Amino acid sequence: MSGDGYKMLFSTGKIGSLELKNRIVMPPMVTNYATEDGAVTEQYKDYLRERANGGVGLIIVEATYIHPWGKGFVNNLGVDRDELVPGLRELTEVAHGAEVKIAIQLYHAGRQTSSKTSGYHPIAPSPIPTPGEEEIPREATIEEIQGVVEAFGEGARRAKEAGFDAVEVHGTHGYIINEFLSPYSNKREDEYGKDFEGRLRLALEVLQRIKEKAGNEFPVIYRINGDECVEGGITLEVTKRIAKRLEEAGADAFHVTAGVGESSYNSVQPMAMPRGCKAHLAQGVKQVVNVPIISAGRISHPEVAEEILEQNKADFVAMGRALLCDQEMPNKALEGEIDDIRVCIACNQKCINKLLGAEQEPIGCALNVRTGREAEFPMTKVDKKKKVLIVGAGPAGLEAARVAALRGHRVDLFEKEERIGGQINLISSVPGREEFKEVISYYQSQIPKLGINLVLNHPVSAEEIEGMSPDVVIFATGATPLLPDLPGIDSLRVVSAWDVIRGECALGERVVVLGGGSVGACTVDSLRKLGKKVTIVEMLEDIALDMEPLTRKLFMKELTSDGKVKIWTGTRISEISEEGVVVERGWEKILLRDIDNVVLALGATSNKDLIDKLAGKLRNYHIVGDAKKPRKVTEAVEEGFEAAYRI
Ligand SMILES: Cc1cc2nc3c(=O)[nH]c(=O)nc-3n(C[C@H](O)[C@H](O)[C@H](O)COP(=O)(O)O)c2cc1C
Ligand code: SF4
Repeated sequence: MSGDGYKMLFSTGKIGSLELKNRIVMPPMVTNYATEDGAVTEQYKDYLRERANGGVGLIIVEATYIHPWGKGFVNNLGVDRDELVPGLRELTEVAHGAEVKIAIQLYHAGRQTSSKTSGYHPIAPSPIPTPGEEEIPREATIEEIQGVVEAFGEGARRAKEAGFDAVEVHGTHGYIINEFLSPYSNKREDEYGKDFEGRLRLALEVLQRIKEKAGNEFPVIYRINGDECVEGGITLEVTKRIAKRLEEAGADAFHVTAGVGESSYNSVQPMAMPRGCKAHLAQGVKQVVNVPIISAGRISHPEVAEEILEQNKADFVAMGRALLCDQEMPNKALEGEIDDIRVCIACNQKCINKLLGAEQEPIGCALNVRTGREAEFPMTKVDKKKKVLIVGAGPAGLEAARVAALRGHRVDLFEKEERIGGQINLISSVPGREEFKEVISYYQSQIPKLGINLVLNHPVSAEEIEGMSPDVVIFATGATPLLPDLPGIDSLRVVSAWDVIRGECALGERVVVLGGGSVGACTVDSLRKLGKKVTIVEMLEDIALDMEPLTRKLFMKELTSDGKVKIWTGTRISEISEEGVVVERGWEKILLRDIDNVVLALGATSNKDLIDKLAGKLRNYHIVGDAKKPRKVTEAVEEGFEAAYRI
């Protein structure tokens, strides 16, 4: 399908007085690229420039704190002081230089921050912490609430001075305005709580103050929570009432999302949730207001975007992670180069996971190594073309091949199996992980276009490699399941999780899975869905701990929903016997009986045979991905990229 096929997506649109060249919106995403005191950096400008050049219609810059108490991330962007305006102006100039409109999201984190991050004790409508957080927020006084209103107004004034074309009010995801709006977090009995009107007051006052400070003509988008997805929280019906009132108060558009802190997999949806899964919320709001609606949530492909617009569920589509994964996506869609789009698979591994992790790192993308590192890796051609030989066409080898070829090298890529993808073929056959197929499709389309010489079904030997005299060899030979030295491991009843996932073995009804990492946990989930009686044994205090947290939250909720899976944590495996599996918990030895099969998911070991044979003989070689150490796709792609880039 060419750009002609995406007629709606590439039609012009309007938000208030703001004219947009197409319907693609880059939604706000905190990057952690700012300085510790909230200023714009070169890294921020580089990141934004590439997105602007990629053809998006409107960029909404990240949740930017309007008051120091409302800072939610260590390297969050700020708009709380006049001295930040010149830096912000540089950001707007970058977008305008590419003829792209730019807005900024104004926010105050409320209870969803900590004194460690902001340096101040968090405030909230009521002294109730976000479930899972330890710090109890302080109930905001009336003066403090009025201070928040004023700070939003001042933030909008500064944004306008910095050249932004619009502001977006962050009224969702459990931050302060959302907290006041919701009976779930607002238990006040004064004029800012008690009933619908009271809870709405802060949002209305913020909107009014922004209009007063930035002028009635200055477009204001309101990001609204279509469904908090928590018991006792805001649902779509309440949102509709809120939206009508905010429209009357001057909101020029609504940007509809979902979820709050504890239901945040509804805000940044993992791959197990379908594409466009929150569009019904946008549609619901659209039915009751007359201003434009932006829909957000897993709109990862232009096809889905066009469908949402065609079905009149929304007027604009937010494509956030899609633009982290491929900043050129809009241009490619417009040109009809659909196969060239690297589709975001909603793995969350290197974007939201980095941000929400204990370290609060800058965001990136598991599949796009250049995200946030644009200046470090300009995609220029090398001066001296080299002969690069890559062994293994899993994610590390594929990325290495792509980058080496893009940089102008001659690339031979050998794969022992009949198809490319390595372990991605395995992962993508797990229910709920099908999106991984997109990774393979992408490389499949790039290999011929980049002139990579792919040789399948060919376990290349050490002698062959030496005979070809490559300038550089990249070993991306992957890993194989680990077989621990355990009594009874040779029993016919014992199979590997990989074989189970591949569908290569028939299992009985009662199965024990040994190893509760994500491979074991996903195997259990697949077996559970087949109606098997499953027990999982894990040495650590919980299972699936290596899974990205939002993905895990949703996964665990579903896995434990019917209470049928038996989970043994803090448990060691000591023996597989005729009677069953002997495990140890503390000093206690327990026999798990009545088992038809034992499935091993105890990790993997790097395939190093070829490397060991050649290591002393090669002039220049690299080991990447699981061949170096078994880990995730993120590390595989990153190492493949970097090794190839530095040739
Ligand atoms: C790294 C990251 C940071 C985010 N930061 C914000 C933010 O600052 N403000 C906000 O309203 N939503 C934020 N979100 C949510 C996104 O704006 C978007 O609604 C969500 O990712 C779903 O859309 P997508 O599937 O197109 O990515 C963030 C999401 C990610 C992945
Ligand atoms: S890390 Fe995963 S979810 Fe995040 S943008 Fe990249 S592909 Fe998408």
